[in-house]
Amino acid sequence: MSEIVRIDGLGYAYPPIDLDGRREWVLRDINLEIHAGEFVSIMGATGVGKTTLCLALNGIVPNSTGGTIRGDVYIDGLNTKRHPVSDLAQHVGVVFQEPETQLFNVSVEAEIAFGLESLGLPAIEIGERITWALSVVGMTEFRQRSPFKLSGGQKQRVAIASILAMAPKILVLDESTASLDPVGKTEVFSIVRELRQKHGITIVMVEHESERIAEFSDRVIVLGNGTVQMASSPADVFSKVNEMRTLGLSIPQVSELADRLNRTNNTEYVFTQLEEAYSELTGSGNLVRRISG
Ligand SMILES: Nc1ncnc2c1ncn2[C@@H]1O[C@H](COP(=O)(O)OP(=O)(O)OP(=O)(O)O)[C@@H](O)[C@H]1O
Ligand SMILES: [Mg+2]
Repeated sequence: MSEIVRIDGLGYAYPPIDLDGRREWVLRDINLEIHAGEFVSIMGATGVGKTTLCLALNGIVPNSTGGTIRGDVYIDGLNTKRHPVSDLAQHVGVVFQEPETQLFNVSVEAEIAFGLESLGLPAIEIGERITWALSVVGMTEFRQRSPFKLSGGQKQRVAIASILAMAPKILVLDESTASLDPVGKTEVFSIVRELRQKHGITIVMVEHESERIAEFSDRVIVLGNGTVQMASSPADVFSKVNEMRTLGLSIPQVSELADRLNRTNNTEYVFTQLEEAYSELTGSGNLVRRISG
């Protein structure tokens, strides 16, 4: 099986709140395959079920949340229904939005050791994994510091390190840069890119910022109405201007520009990144000729 994640007909409803036992399907029919080493971004309007889908990847949905599930999720070949969350954590790690809620130990080192100790690893290996994970996220010199005194971006780097130390093949980031300033966002994105390029880790990232999605992703998955509405390259997804608007999602400004040029000048531009737009609009000789020709 070349896909590292396979989702077949996934439907999920949280435990019913009303006494008549009525279920509300948050996810209705999700079908998705993610290949090893891919960088996939997930977009979708508020409340569409992005976090629920992330939790279905590490088995918290449904193993810890209960509720009703239909269909199957396979992570690295393991059916999440048949494996405990603790086992799945060695295959897939999830970083959440708020760094504060993920850190609770007195030092960065203790924070990373926490998950490893629960695996029952020998002390030497725990030490080695901490050293490696901190070097990957560029936080080696912070090993003995308190996580609470770090910047937002640094906290997220520690949160990522504590997950990396478990050596998962898949890293899921659920809006993990949403609360960070631009510098913190860039820190996290560049680490994630490196994890994928140097360590071959598969990345699944829930994101709103379409410019960053265009820059980093191989594929964009758009969720809506409990299903996958689109699953394609950034160029493909961001040229579907009307569909994206209907779903309440933003696209890069240069993609809007391409759409406007195409509508007024009968061109067929597809832009997702500024540099690409610039070189297309200038490098081909001159824009005027392309439009009139
Ligand atoms: N623990 C829970 N129990 C019951 N309903 C829940 C629970 N968690 C989420 N929901 C509901 O499931 C739906 C999807 O929520 P989810 O958090 O997965 O969406 P989301 O796309 O991540 O939203 P956001 O953009 O706000 O992060 C929402 O209607 C939400 O109210
Ligand atoms: Mg969410």
